[in-house]
Amino acid sequence: MLPSPISDLVVSPPPLSLLTLLPSVFLLMLIVYTLIHHHMQPEKKLRRLPPGSLGWPYIGETLKLYTENPNSFFSNREKRYGKIFKTHILGCPCVMISSPEIAKMVLVTESHMFKPTYPPSKEKMIGPEAIFFHQGPYHSHLKKLIQSSFLPSTIKRSVPQIEDIVLRFLPTWEHKNTINTLQEMKMYAFEVAMISVFGNKLEATEMEGIKGLYQCLEKGYNSMPLDLPGTPFNKAMKARKGLNEKLRRIIEKRKESGENGEGLLGEFLLSNEKEGMKMKMNESQIADNIIGVIFAAHDTTASVLTWLLKYLHHHPHLLDAVRKEQEEIRCKRVEANRGITWEDTRCMPLTTRVIQETLRAASILSFTYREAVEDVEMEGYLIPKGWKVLPLFRTIHYSSDFFPHPNKFDPSRFQVSPRPNTYMPFGNGAHSCPGSDLAKLEMLVLLHHLTTTLRWEVIGEDDGIQYVPFPVPLHGLPIKVRPLN
Ligand code: HEM
Repeated sequence: MLPSPISDLVVSPPPLSLLTLLPSVFLLMLIVYTLIHHHMQPEKKLRRLPPGSLGWPYIGETLKLYTENPNSFFSNREKRYGKIFKTHILGCPCVMISSPEIAKMVLVTESHMFKPTYPPSKEKMIGPEAIFFHQGPYHSHLKKLIQSSFLPSTIKRSVPQIEDIVLRFLPTWEHKNTINTLQEMKMYAFEVAMISVFGNKLEATEMEGIKGLYQCLEKGYNSMPLDLPGTPFNKAMKARKGLNEKLRRIIEKRKESGENGEGLLGEFLLSNEKEGMKMKMNESQIADNIIGVIFAAHDTTASVLTWLLKYLHHHPHLLDAVRKEQEEIRCKRVEANRGITWEDTRCMPLTTRVIQETLRAASILSFTYREAVEDVEMEGYLIPKGWKVLPLFRTIHYSSDFFPHPNKFDPSRFQVSPRPNTYMPFGNGAHSCPGSDLAKLEMLVLLHHLTTTLRWEVIGEDDGIQYVPFPVPLHGLPIKVRPLN
């Protein structure tokens, strides 16, 4: 048997005084303590932070994120560290996730351990009782009401109203020399959002009043949260109060008339009247959620519509194929002397795939935020309580493992359904988007009339992205529109 240091010590101990023994006894105790601690809490050893850099104290990697293109910021780190990595942005330590499986844990299976998180200034502006900021029974109650207002069976009734809006907008485009696609799409999506929350009976003056206040709110939302007289933030907070007042009057009118009325507002008022309904919404909860839904509905849809026009312009063969598909439907409509129907929109397979691919390629919500409500262990890594967690939708949408040749605009890839949890333009889990069907319907109705009556040409430089805050083509994609024939 080979001699070991321990056996040597036992066989022939050197003559030591008590004083010289003390350090060795201390060292031995330390080793024993460490060994016991290690064996009794094996999980602690696994609890290491994900790889990555926290950058400089306080500023972390914020400057790098803002000076690099955000997409390469994420993808470079993914290449270096893997599908879960840490960073530090805007004063917050964060864990970024580009694995569909881990993103699913955060958003779906372990979602109770991660709460939604937004800057306090944004919460104040939208209204702290809006659905986005909540979890648990209040969130579920709201989600059920909002979802039922935006189910296909409900929104199919608004097809004629959406078509009316399109038919009002398109002729005005023809008469302008140049139009700013994003601005026009915003107006369109705003009007659709308004009929979905208030129904079709809002007076024109009420509509205009709300629109003005909304524009002011939006400017403040995208500005520095500096609450001083005259700042956009300050003006936005005033506009927000004005919106509350407008809503209060609309609700009052509906109550006086004895009718809950249409749209999401009607759904909220009706649910308050239901017998046995434990959760009643007060006026500020109703206001925060009406304003929140309009907010969530219009800029998102407008940005995707702007990308749609850009991608179709860049791919003339696709535009021809979409036009052909739409022309067949138009012929049937004209023959029957009718407007577009919900059923027509279900017979647009190619146009639908173009929309799906636009949602992937544009990935206007590049990621979402959550915050760990306790220490969470994931894939052997520790996500400490209070850290932000960001599932990176865009990085997943641009992974060649799930979407071969991700930089190619190729709607045919959607002839086969994407792998589960790899395609998340509308999020995933409890907070996923309740308005996805409405957004797609708006796009289909607009594309039907646009492609069968008009053609468009992009003006000036058409490569480049701007963040408003969603990524959109540079300068909002100025275009020139002409009649098709
Ligand atoms: C193309 C357009 C749209 C896109 C890309 C989009 C995308 C998203 C995404 C990714 C989320 C999840 C955010 C998260 O998990 O943190 C979300 C949530 C939400 N969206 Fe949309 N959305 C669109 C249009 C709409 C429309 C038309 C409505 C109108 C009803 C709407 C209402 C909402 C609401 C209320 C939530 C919050 C849900 C919750 O917290 O439970 N969105 N949207």
